[in-house]
Amino acid sequence: LFAGEVDFLKGVVAMDGLPPDDRAEVCFAGRSNVGKSSLINALTGRKGLARASNTPGRTQEINYFTLATDHYLVDLPGYGFANAPVAVVEKWQRLLKNYLAGRASLRRAFVLIDFRHGVKKVDEEIMTLLDRSAVTFQVVLTKADKVKAKDHDKVLAQVRNVLAKHPAAYPEMVLTSSEKGEGIATLRTIIAGLK
Ligand code: GTP
Ligand code: MG
Repeated sequence: LFAGEVDFLKGVVAMDGLPPDDRAEVCFAGRSNVGKSSLINALTGRKGLARASNTPGRTQEINYFTLATDHYLVDLPGYGFANAPVAVVEKWQRLLKNYLAGRASLRRAFVLIDFRHGVKKVDEEIMTLLDRSAVTFQVVLTKADKVKAKDHDKVLAQVRNVLAKHPAAYPEMVLTSSEKGEGIATLRTIIAGLK
């Protein structure tokens, strides 16, 4: 469904650089290093498509990818701690918030949460922004391969608790591992169904 049918369109550094909002798009938001770019690579089956790295703050632009399903897939810079100069980080945080609050064609924001850590305060701030902007968001738990089965329930309960407080939250979460491929097919099906 996705592989071989995806292309990098452009990297955007300011709101006026966004492509025309004439097709449905989904974005991947989350703290720096949570695994946004890796997830896009796993979804598209193209390893080097979105640049991923160990350094928090790797993605510093809003990166647009086109899918044959006629969606835009959007890789966002991370929020929270980043290994970059303060002024630069502030600039992209502002861009990120403007984008999340003001993009008419955004069908769903996937909010990535590291399965080892659960929801943090900065995640809740983004969720509140999405509530206010009436953008439906869905939690994607990342790095499931790093969490033992016996620890799943505790984190899941914490996330569910938080989601109950957010009117824009989609109730079902998706458990993923970009490393092992877990949950990737499920996520592809969800995206393909968002028109
Ligand atoms: P920024 O662009 O800096 O905001 O980060 P990001 O959210 O795009 O994270 P990125 O995809 O660059 O991944 C960060 C690190 O986590 C990399 O070292 C990845 O290899 C690792 N990682 C991502 N997904 C997984 C996963 O499912 N399992 C494991 N074990 N590691 C992962
Ligand atoms: Mg990234």
